[in-house]
Amino acid sequence: MKLLVPAASGVEAVVKRQLDKLGYPETRAVNGRVAVDNCTWRDVARLNMFLRSGERVLVCLGQFDCPDFDSLYNGVASICWQDIVDGEGRVTVVTKSVNSKLFAHHSIQSVGKKAIVSVLEQRFGALSETGADYRVELDLTNDVCTVNLDTSGAGLHKRGYRTLPYDAPLKETTAAALIDLTVWNPDKMFADLFCGSGTLPIEAALKALNIAPGLNRSFAFQQWACVDSKAYQTALEEARDVRVDRPLKIVGGDISERAIEIARFHAQQAGVQNYVKFNLREAREFVSDSSYGVAVCNPPYGERLGDVEAARQIARDMGKLYRTLDKWNFYFLSPLADFEHDFGRRADKKRYIFNAGIKCSFYSFNGPKPPKVFPKQEK
Ligand SMILES: C[S@@+](CC[C@H](N)C(=O)[O-])C[C@H]1O[C@@H](n2cnc3c(N)ncnc32)[C@H](O)[C@@H]1O
Repeated sequence: MKLLVPAASGVEAVVKRQLDKLGYPETRAVNGRVAVDNCTWRDVARLNMFLRSGERVLVCLGQFDCPDFDSLYNGVASICWQDIVDGEGRVTVVTKSVNSKLFAHHSIQSVGKKAIVSVLEQRFGALSETGADYRVELDLTNDVCTVNLDTSGAGLHKRGYRTLPYDAPLKETTAAALIDLTVWNPDKMFADLFCGSGTLPIEAALKALNIAPGLNRSFAFQQWACVDSKAYQTALEEARDVRVDRPLKIVGGDISERAIEIARFHAQQAGVQNYVKFNLREAREFVSDSSYGVAVCNPPYGERLGDVEAARQIARDMGKLYRTLDKWNFYFLSPLADFEHDFGRRADKKRYIFNAGIKCSFYSFNGPKPPKVFPKQEK
């Protein structure tokens, strides 16, 4: 099977690297999706369980030219749906259309669904639609239709630990990608000075402890009769096996008491409460006894009228803090055009990343590399 992993804009390369580490070196990034060939249901289970920054895992069921509704119907009906969906299955169709003659989503959806139902009815008779969910995506790009089956169900950012609402939280998948773009490793201190609901520190702890992001949730494919139940079981056992334990120095700070309460609760739900400390603190007052460390922050964007000046003041304060913590690396995700100007230094690297539909830059301000520690020579 060919699998497709959608990734947020700016994050495709991170997802490719995560796939490589999981043992899938041959991947291609196309139109915001990373393709992995020659996969089985076991790979579907592994990718859902272990990918930190992919948004979903889709199985590509077919692709055909699609200039009109007849081709759409015939193309969708040519897929062996009876081998995938059982007689009780509940199929929903979602659509995408880019640069194609067919663009009316409702009509594409209804023709696609009719084609699927006609194949299933030939095999099973009347359908009850009371069973497992199957979400089918019809992706029309340049008059070519790709039919994908979503194996994840809820998006992979839903790890299960973040249950309390909070203003402008980062998606867990985006937070994990930002962490992967930094020089942080579990031997260094990690700080998020604007932690909100705790996403960045929690994702850092999950990564450091090798806790699979999908360990505490379920996936759509688990309900499907066509999938060998061992596929999920094997991925689950692997996830339990690879977990490690190690001391960590991860902190989160925020000026909101409510944020700190929520972050602590989420850390507990994620099972990392003993590895992450959250403190009520003004970001500019951050101090650390670790001379080397990495700060990864998602400060307020100043979206509401009158808040921009406060957001710019934060950038100035962070510039001052960076100069006092001169051996730290600082990273900020911000949409502010003047961020570097206010921070008082040109970023060493700047990457564009979309967060909740807002075009942001992920600024890296480097510190010096820690000195290499050589093992003592025996005399
Ligand atoms: C965009 S939110 C961070 C969201 C967080 N990444 C999450 O996933 O939930 C920005 C946070 O910065 C906090 N904040 C604003 N000004 C601050 C300051 N001067 N010092 C510390 N925290 C501040 C706000 O209370 C808010 O929780």
